[in-house]
Amino acid sequence: MATEVERIIKLTRGVPPDEALPCELVGQCCAQALADHGEVLLQYNPATGFAPLRALLAEQAGVSSEALLLGNGSIQLLFFLARVALSEGETVVTERPTYDRALTAFRTLRLNVVGVPMEDDGLEVDALSEVIERHRPRLLYTVPDFQNPTGITTSLAKREAVVELARRHDVLIVEDIPYRLLRYKGTDVPSYRMLAPDHTVQLSSFSKLLAPGLRVGWALGDPDLVAKMAKVAEDAYITPGLLGQGVVYEFLRCGHLEPNLQSLKALYRPRLEALLSGLEQAFPEGSWARPQGGFFVGMTLPPGADVHDVARVAREKYGLVVSDSAGFFPDGDPSRFVRLPFCALNEGEIGQAMERLAQAVEDSRSGGR
Ligand SMILES: Cc1ncc(COP(=O)(O)O)c(C=O)c1O
Repeated sequence: MATEVERIIKLTRGVPPDEALPCELVGQCCAQALADHGEVLLQYNPATGFAPLRALLAEQAGVSSEALLLGNGSIQLLFFLARVALSEGETVVTERPTYDRALTAFRTLRLNVVGVPMEDDGLEVDALSEVIERHRPRLLYTVPDFQNPTGITTSLAKREAVVELARRHDVLIVEDIPYRLLRYKGTDVPSYRMLAPDHTVQLSSFSKLLAPGLRVGWALGDPDLVAKMAKVAEDAYITPGLLGQGVVYEFLRCGHLEPNLQSLKALYRPRLEALLSGLEQAFPEGSWARPQGGFFVGMTLPPGADVHDVARVAREKYGLVVSDSAGFFPDGDPSRFVRLPFCALNEGEIGQAMERLAQAVEDSRSGGR
């Protein structure tokens, strides 16, 4: 029989757990969507996506359909957006740390990426101001709600300051908000789109609200920009995966989203609490964000610990797999940062993961490995 340490725990997975995927309901929605719209969903169609879903999401956002583009997940839409909004060598500002796949997209397009440090309430505004003065960026990429990888939510005061800077220097704000609706306590902060609709492109996704395998994301912004993105999308894949969009449409039309969000919150809230109390017990010297939603808690390791070393010791000696933090950093030093995703582990696993992490950190600090 495997001992506890032999049973590997993966603290790397920023994905929904299998038990969060509503397979039966999705099956029903798929059958109904095919019955109602089969000839559209199984055919080539405009790259802007399944028109009824486009219209429904646009109506909910209070915009015309032309301001909304559906695509195969939001990360690819970010790639399309960066492709049409920027040219090779131009500068993008991101939070530091930030979502690793966004960095990959920017680097693939050979953009110059500059990071601005994160504080407990969002990016450091003075540093952002300096970066803007110095590098004249065209675009700011931000994950303002329950950020991946830190869990931090940007305060209203900081959002207002960022909007002011963006307006003054004509920087496009791209807010990526796949976790915004997964709030387990507290109240929403106004989105950038609410504060500055003329200066913002909003990206979001059903990956964390319903199922990532459906591959349905959307972008909301200026209709001219959206049209350019749709042209790039058409050249990339002709038509996005419409069947997933038909399923999402039916899921929304039948009113399944709200109950699904409630059950996701009921599943994830205790996992977040378990992680926060596990951290409290295991790390008298560490510091970490205290998110009220989302998928992640970002931790700064105690002095003397290095994440590469901790990750190696954790894996080899304690059967715990931890992310390499370098991928989240556009620049700067990743060595004290560790991302702790909590949704894909149950409370017992989270408690054990914190104990193993604390042991690995202790070994790393004392050099006794
Ligand atoms: C901030 C952020 N944006 C985008 C994505 C990817 O979303 P999608 O599955 O819609 O491509 C993720 C997934 O982890 C994410 O954390």
